[in-house]
Amino acid sequence: MKMKRKDPFQYGAPIARCYAPELLELTKGKGSRVRDASGRWYLDFGAGIAVNALGYGRRDLARVAARQMRRLIHTSNLYTSPPTVALARTLTASGPFDACFFGNSGTEANEAALKLARLYASRTKGPGHARLVSFTNSFHGRTMGALSVTPTSAYREPFEPLVPETETLPFNDPEAVAQLDRRVAACIVEVIQGEGGLEQMTPEFVEALNSAREEHDIVLIVDEIQTGLGRTGSVYAHRTAGLKADIVTLAKPLAGGLPLSATLIPERINKLLSPGDHGSTFGGGPVTTAVAAHVWKTITPERFLEQVRARAVQLDGELDELAASRSELGRTLGAGLLRGVEVRCPENQAKTVIKEILGACRSRGLLILRSGANVLRLAPPLTVSKEDVSTAVRILGQALDAVEIPSPDGNDSAQGTAPAHAPGSPPTRSSGESSAPAGRPTSTGATTGAATGQSAAGQSTTEQSDQGDPS
Ligand SMILES: Cc1ncc(COP(=O)(O)O)c(C=O)c1O
Repeated sequence: MKMKRKDPFQYGAPIARCYAPELLELTKGKGSRVRDASGRWYLDFGAGIAVNALGYGRRDLARVAARQMRRLIHTSNLYTSPPTVALARTLTASGPFDACFFGNSGTEANEAALKLARLYASRTKGPGHARLVSFTNSFHGRTMGALSVTPTSAYREPFEPLVPETETLPFNDPEAVAQLDRRVAACIVEVIQGEGGLEQMTPEFVEALNSAREEHDIVLIVDEIQTGLGRTGSVYAHRTAGLKADIVTLAKPLAGGLPLSATLIPERINKLLSPGDHGSTFGGGPVTTAVAAHVWKTITPERFLEQVRARAVQLDGELDELAASRSELGRTLGAGLLRGVEVRCPENQAKTVIKEILGACRSRGLLILRSGANVLRLAPPLTVSKEDVSTAVRILGQALDAVEIPSPDGNDSAQGTAPAHAPGSPPTRSSGESSAPAGRPTSTGATTGAATGQSAAGQSTTEQSDQGDPS
């Protein structure tokens, strides 16, 4: 008898309406794949928005967490514990840092960085030096301080007025940076704009930031929340770019999926701090830091990073090939395993088109993300296999075939062979396309080839383009 599958979507759950009204319910993961509540597997090239760097179902992470939970789960920041101290030592030794402040999320890491930069400016330069500068299309988080340096109006508008004395300059504009002066306490930047379209800093911009920092004693905060810890093929993307960071913020993959962030600070800031200046009850607890030490030990050896770079070269090449063969695709962007490709369509239709493509990928067993208005973002686990990279790019090509993408000049694209599918109906498939999702993991995490999963159930295309906005 044929078993009827459970609808894998949660509709109208009492989850705040800032998230999509229907959410794909995930129940399990293994390697680079996740399973939904109906039992269907997906190849996950979003990795929990660039968090699950080591993939799913890791027994080593579970072992470390369980061992530490049996010993001691929580201390508060009135005390510390061996894993917290050990991780602080490791992270501090990874660059010109004197100390580490632990929080629980990316936004908290940036919040701490901004507060400490202002404290430094007020103590060393005096009043009138509190300006915080960020750059167009950057994303630094959703709490009031981090949001104040996140210029995208959709994120900010409902919450204004935000923190005063913040300013946005154009990204990659060295001349704008050259106008900065001593009144600026800090600049906060991403080397690659993870949420804002995957644009990468130019060498000229790097040079301008380094000079402004030096000349005006501006604290340079580098947000490595998405780019750090191996994502771009090195431990820190700013180092590869030649950017001289004062403060570095880390989160997402730091504790393998558990909530932990770190704000790495230099001696000249640390020496000005007194107990009580900043704090967090949960930040840097023994369990998250024990797991993070294990993640660090796994990711940072050169042989692991070499593997990441090899997969990145492959993904890069296959995406370039896909983009070259399709008029509806533009530039490929990003670096390492944070890659994207521009979709060429009229600006006012980009949101719908991207949503359709993400939906078409999902119904074929591939989860990907959006970045900026019109970029498809791929950020798989760093442990992704060669076969899975090829499978993901192939499915992306099939998904693009199934979506009608209007050309930017208003003419219908010749590329899409099928009409855009209406919400609630399955997307149309082009010939030669398999209905099987991206394969089911075996116990070793390898793919079984064409999987047993059903073709996507009729599902609306409400997608990560909403939900995949930064968490
Ligand atoms: C570059 C960057 N900074 C900060 C954040 C905020 O992190 P969180 O959602 O953990 O607060 C994000 C999240 O996507 C990010 O990509």
